[in-house]
Amino acid sequence: MRVMQVLSPDAKGLAAAADLLRRGELVAFPTETVYGLGADARSDKAVARIFDAKGRPRFNPLIVHVPGVEAARQIAVLDDRAERLASAFWPGPLTLVLPLRPGSGLSPLVTAGLPSVALRVPAHPVASALLAAFGGPVAAPSANPSGKVSPTRAGHVLAGLAGKIAAVVDGGPCTVGVESTILGLAGDAELLRPGGIPAEVIEACLGQPLHIGGNAVQPTAPGQLLSHYAPSSSVRLNVSAPDPGEFWLGFGPAAGKADLNLSLSGDLVEAAANLFHFLQEADRVADGSPIAVSPVPEHGLGRAINDRLRRAAAPRP
Ligand code: TXA
Ligand code: MG
Repeated sequence: MRVMQVLSPDAKGLAAAADLLRRGELVAFPTETVYGLGADARSDKAVARIFDAKGRPRFNPLIVHVPGVEAARQIAVLDDRAERLASAFWPGPLTLVLPLRPGSGLSPLVTAGLPSVALRVPAHPVASALLAAFGGPVAAPSANPSGKVSPTRAGHVLAGLAGKIAAVVDGGPCTVGVESTILGLAGDAELLRPGGIPAEVIEACLGQPLHIGGNAVQPTAPGQLLSHYAPSSSVRLNVSAPDPGEFWLGFGPAAGKADLNLSLSGDLVEAAANLFHFLQEADRVADGSPIAVSPVPEHGLGRAINDRLRRAAAPRP
């Protein structure tokens, strides 16, 4: 068991974090979406450690974080659509899956051997400063054990991964609160995961509707859903009036009596920022009782919120 250092987001802490990354160690850091578990994306050994620390069962591909579009162009091929989206939404919570440039230098573990790579430029000042201090691409999934609720505070990272990683840079709570939107651009633009930038906003920028692909497909049977973001209590969705004994995670003014309310005014941005912290809190306070969640509208950030809630409620393996 190793001690996890908690580093402050000042020059000294960032230099120490960059140094650990250079030595192939794992460092968790804040982004505007969730805390990421970072490793040098060019090192097989460092990237393999991510899967080990998270207990991630499959070597599925990871998102590579870069400081700007210039660094992105060295790793992937950006067509006109990618350039337009990058200038509109980077830095920010949008991940683009693009053709991998030969000789990119990335570990094949990052892309799971695919000819494409997922890239994003995070908007958090601590993430930008760390990428600048490190000077290379950083692979980073969310900094939580596989299948558990994503971390939006350094304390969540400590609770899930202490003893398994070298350090966490504490940059306070994340402002967006759900992971980035993932857009496939290998062929027709395809929404692979709803996230921090609403699909409607991307459609408006591209001037065309998105195909719905991969993870984002509305499930037709609960069994098709991969359990993920799961608290230890069971989760019941679209509940307007909870049963006695249930912990009520509310949304909007109709849930004024809820135990916790994602946003009393019904603001989806506020609800996204609160989602993972409140799921963790609900799990702690409910202490094994079922968690009942109010309906959340399926537009804007509501699509990302409902995607995470459906996975939290899915049958456990
Ligand atoms: O907000 C976020 O995106 C956070 C923060 C830390 O930046 N990161 C995150 O990373 O959620 P991660 O590694 O958990 O996201 C990985 C997902 C995969 O499950 C897959 O859906 C998609 O990114 N992905 C990565 N590479 C891909 C590829 N080449 N083709 C298709 N999908 C890919
Ligand atoms: Mg994750």
